[in-house]
Amino acid sequence: MQETIHRLVRTCRDVICRGLAGSVLALGLAACGGDYPQSTIGPATDLAGHIHDLYVQVFWWTMFILAVVSGVLTYVLVRYRERPGAETPRQTRGHLGLEIAWTVAPAVIVVLITIPTIRAVFRTQQPPASDALAIEVIGHQWWWEFRYPELGVVTANELHLPVGRPVDLSLRSADVIHSFWVPRLGGKRDVNPSPRVPEGRTPKVNRLTFTVSEPGVYHGQCAEFCGASHALMRMQVVVESAEAFASWAEAMKTRVTPTAGTPEDRGREIFARSPCVACHAIAGTTAQGAVGPSLTRVGARSAIAAGVLENTTENLVRWITDPASVKPGALMPGTAVGGGGFPPTGLSPEDAGAVAAYLRSLR
Ligand code: CUA
Repeated sequence: MQETIHRLVRTCRDVICRGLAGSVLALGLAACGGDYPQSTIGPATDLAGHIHDLYVQVFWWTMFILAVVSGVLTYVLVRYRERPGAETPRQTRGHLGLEIAWTVAPAVIVVLITIPTIRAVFRTQQPPASDALAIEVIGHQWWWEFRYPELGVVTANELHLPVGRPVDLSLRSADVIHSFWVPRLGGKRDVNPSPRVPEGRTPKVNRLTFTVSEPGVYHGQCAEFCGASHALMRMQVVVESAEAFASWAEAMKTRVTPTAGTPEDRGREIFARSPCVACHAIAGTTAQGAVGPSLTRVGARSAIAAGVLENTTENLVRWITDPASVKPGALMPGTAVGGGGFPPTGLSPEDAGAVAAYLRSLR
């Protein structure tokens, strides 16, 4: 019996040692890795800061518990290890003091975690500030639409925000449930289809309000399974100074006209008489479709197809020619293959190239 217990203790000790070594190695490797644009532990807003503060507090509590448990375990393993001539330690069965201690201590820790948790819940549910910039976020399978009602600007997949000013996002979906998630800006929030409401009432939508403290480019993606291309529903958030944001908004309302006779200008003509205009809008032109993403200043975006492809002329040609090869299930038809119930656009390879050149010039 004693031999069996000793063998068990030795096995446990080996397992714990290996486990600790493995954890240290994993942590070390994680620390050596590259940068993580979607890390949740680099908060850049007040909202993400509240969540991060809570996370840090819980993290240190778990570290404290780990230290106490491993400390006691190590002490017991060393103190009562097998030694020649060692006597069997005193056997304890039922210890009132110990039992009260290990019931009360965890209960106290749970209470100490509950207090900051409740505080964080209230802090993250605050109403937006009165000077907050209102933005409508609309989830689509599989792209993001951003509308700025007070600026008269509509864009897609690349959200622009001014640094230091509160923003008030109202989130809704045009089809199924999505989830807006830009980890460095805040927690996930569901993007639900707008329910039908009686006349005179406005439907309740989910909101997200925060102030970004550092300029930069933040990456995010849909965080709720929403169909075949859920993983390809990404976005970028460009946070810039108030001046840069104002000039971006102004540019979004002005038309870009390619020089007459250039390939870009030929692309503009082809685009204007193609079926593309039935779904896409470009500010200041006759293209005013509202089914697909707005293409105003699309050439200035760093990615196309909702963050899936780098924004290059070759990738635009690929996307225009065969969107389904990039994003399975996308509504957009290709040049020779239909999509989303729409017939093919029928653009020749030369036409597709010219349209891509035109779109690239919109910056
Ligand atoms: Cu939209 Cu997942």
